[in-house]
Amino acid sequence: MKFFSENIEDLRTLYIANLRKALDMEQKITKALPTMIEKATDPQLASAFSNHLTETQGHLAKVESLLRNVNNGEADTSTCKAISALVTEAEDNIKDAADTTIRDITLIASAQQVEHHEIAVYGTLRTWAELLGEDEAAEILDSILDEEKNADELLTAIADGVNTAAANTTNAVPTHV
Ligand SMILES: [Fe+2]
Ligand SMILES: [Fe+2]
Repeated sequence: MKFFSENIEDLRTLYIANLRKALDMEQKITKALPTMIEKATDPQLASAFSNHLTETQGHLAKVESLLRNVNNGEADTSTCKAISALVTEAEDNIKDAADTTIRDITLIASAQQVEHHEIAVYGTLRTWAELLGEDEAAEILDSILDEEKNADELLTAIADGVNTAAANTTNAVPTHV
């Protein structure tokens, strides 16, 4: 973990600094996903989280290796404040949900916010790797990006079913007598 400010003067230094943040991001997601699996009621949702935990462990290993390759063998992390905030918000949302359907919906919403952040992070890192002539790294980053996009699309598909179930339940309760 870095506690001092970095002097970022060029794209390579910026790329390395953001790989450090991506490593912290994947470590935090790896820690958060087991709770999300445990709290999910919809079996498809629990299974999607479980599969993505395996993928996330792969992302962690890939980012760590990419970082070591350009950072004299070091894999020191730098705090990803965005993911810390999203994970805290997800934990609050889980606590606030009054029933399992609402909890599933909020789990999907939180997970998609995380996936969208990851998509932005890996899209940027892949482009920077290309600009720096790090072609092999760019391919690896692109493969991670694909898995993040697929995870997001799967969550959208699962949300369709869960949201419809919640809407039907809500509509079944008369608001006027
Ligand atoms: Fe990831
Ligand atoms: Fe992800």
